[in-house]
Amino acid sequence: MQIEKHSFLVTGGASGLGESVARAIVEQGGNVVIADLNQSAGQSLVAELGDNARFVRCDVTSGDEVQAAVDMAEKEFGGLQGSINCAGIAVVQKLLDRENNPADLESFSRGVNINLVGSFNVARLVAASIAKRVANDSSVEKNSDQGVIINTASIAAFDGQVGQASYSSSKAGVVGLTLPLARELARHGIRVMTIAPGVFATPMMDTIPEKAREQLEVGVPYPKRLGAPNEFAKLAVHIIDNAYLNGEVIRLDGAIRMV
Ligand SMILES: NC(=O)c1ccc[n+]([C@@H]2O[C@H](COP(=O)([O-])OP(=O)(O)OC[C@H]3O[C@@H](n4cnc5c(N)ncnc54)[C@H](O)[C@@H]3O)[C@@H](O)[C@H]2O)c1
Repeated sequence: MQIEKHSFLVTGGASGLGESVARAIVEQGGNVVIADLNQSAGQSLVAELGDNARFVRCDVTSGDEVQAAVDMAEKEFGGLQGSINCAGIAVVQKLLDRENNPADLESFSRGVNINLVGSFNVARLVAASIAKRVANDSSVEKNSDQGVIINTASIAAFDGQVGQASYSSSKAGVVGLTLPLARELARHGIRVMTIAPGVFATPMMDTIPEKAREQLEVGVPYPKRLGAPNEFAKLAVHIIDNAYLNGEVIRLDGAIRMV
């Protein structure tokens, strides 16, 4: 699918990986609706990106708010060709604390709700928008690429560490969404792909101490550094472009395996 003149919803697009994807799409002549909770960062990014970008304050767990973001893309850009779902949070919590008290259930659910339920919520509303557009357009050729939904998991879906029960299981859920959604949406010409990043230098990683960050860098076989957000964006752009990529999860991690 070409990016030029096509429109994409980028959730979590005000920061980190999503911001880099939004920049890459606009650089290639596409349009973006950036949907994020962070209003000030989102608004200053669209001011910088210009006419091809819009911002909407949106919580990915809300049906109404994601629908409003989809509506904005339809109204401002004449429809949507896909989404790149980068909204997410990292929840760190052990099952038992030092005194063997059980984990807080609310924290566990919050991670699953934003990372997994949010991904499903975005996928269902974006897919409905694309499928309706395709159904109403008699010029659409059968078996042609009409849309692409890209979700963001994590290598924690496979290599979960102690304290990552909420994060790892939410991301494993995102991995699990990929094939059933790809199979279901095939008849509409909509592809579904997931990227599972390793460790990337984004504001999400700023919360970890410098020493722990250095240890993470040493643990990457090659290249021995954190991933750059634009390396994630390059893969997202390739997935949009390459119509034969469908129903798969791609690790983007410099060969790191967490132990
Ligand atoms: N940075 C990494 O090393 C890394 C590794 C693996 C996976 N990931 C995943 O990549 C995605 C992007 O992470 P990042 O590193 O760019 O983080 P980030 O914190 O820089 O950006 C995440 C963005 O999501 C937004 N957001 C959070 N909750 C939201 C909600 N409910 N609705 C809408 N927006 C919301 C935040 O406001 C923020 O702008 C996340 O899903 C994360 O789990 C990141």
